[in-house]
Amino acid sequence: MPQRDHSETHVLSPCGRPTVRRGRPRAEATAAAEQVVAAGGSRAAVGMVLGTGMGGLVERLADAWTMLGVETGWLARSTATGHAGRIACGTVDGVPVVMLQGRVHGYEGFPPEMLTRGVELLAALGVRRLLVTNASGGLRPTMTSGELVILSDHIDLVRKPWGDALEPCPTAAGDIHAALYDSDLGERAFVAARRAGVIARRGVYAFLSGPSYETRAEYRMLRRIEADVVGMSTVPEIVAAARMGLEVVACSVVTNVARPDAPEHTDAEDVCRLAADAADGVWAILRELVQDAGPPAAPAANE
Ligand code: HPA
Repeated sequence: MPQRDHSETHVLSPCGRPTVRRGRPRAEATAAAEQVVAAGGSRAAVGMVLGTGMGGLVERLADAWTMLGVETGWLARSTATGHAGRIACGTVDGVPVVMLQGRVHGYEGFPPEMLTRGVELLAALGVRRLLVTNASGGLRPTMTSGELVILSDHIDLVRKPWGDALEPCPTAAGDIHAALYDSDLGERAFVAARRAGVIARRGVYAFLSGPSYETRAEYRMLRRIEADVVGMSTVPEIVAAARMGLEVVACSVVTNVARPDAPEHTDAEDVCRLAADAADGVWAILRELVQDAGPPAAPAANE
């Protein structure tokens, strides 16, 4: 039987491997970016999504300017602990950077198209290089809370067509699966974290929908499928960003280590506090990524 197209943007390649088409930010994201600039924010080549506990990194920006994401009418307010929902523009070592202080999650009830709005806004603000952060559960018994895992790949156990809401970009089709995570930049991020004296490793992120942390049996299963960390975010953003042609690095802070045979109690407050303690390592990675980022991408031409 011939293989069928599943949607406008997802096709099955001959070997059965999914191929996703390129896209660009929706017109509303471009309008929101213009609003940010008109309100006093600035365009930047480097963008960052601050996950659980990472919000304090905004304080380290020089010349910081912030506005609430909901004021653009494009971003939704997160209900999750430690996700303040601000857009922050500033500089790092003299280079313009734009940060999103928090994100919305599927477990809060948001549909897939809402989960990629933040990265669409960043792309519309000129971002070419993206650092995405999150808090996660460590699955290797040798891990310690507070260490960083620079993602080399992910296992998407939620499996929705992330980024399908993007504006189609017919001139740039192609299989982007090989390039979801930029491996050279990932390696530079890893070296930068180590140089800053932080425990870091490369690893695979398993994406589950939440909202609860995993059972002991689920942790055992995740170890068997060779995931290194588990969390409830990031993958929709990564896929959408790669589809928009951004260079992507994702960094996970291990806030609890899954020990199926000696379970630890995990709660959202502990996760926030431990993630905040890892801020120095994440900052070292950001400083590495701004070094040769180049200028922001040009604003989208009006069509
Ligand atoms: N599981 C899923 N998400 C998480 C965890 C976890 O153990 N820790 C922090 N975020």
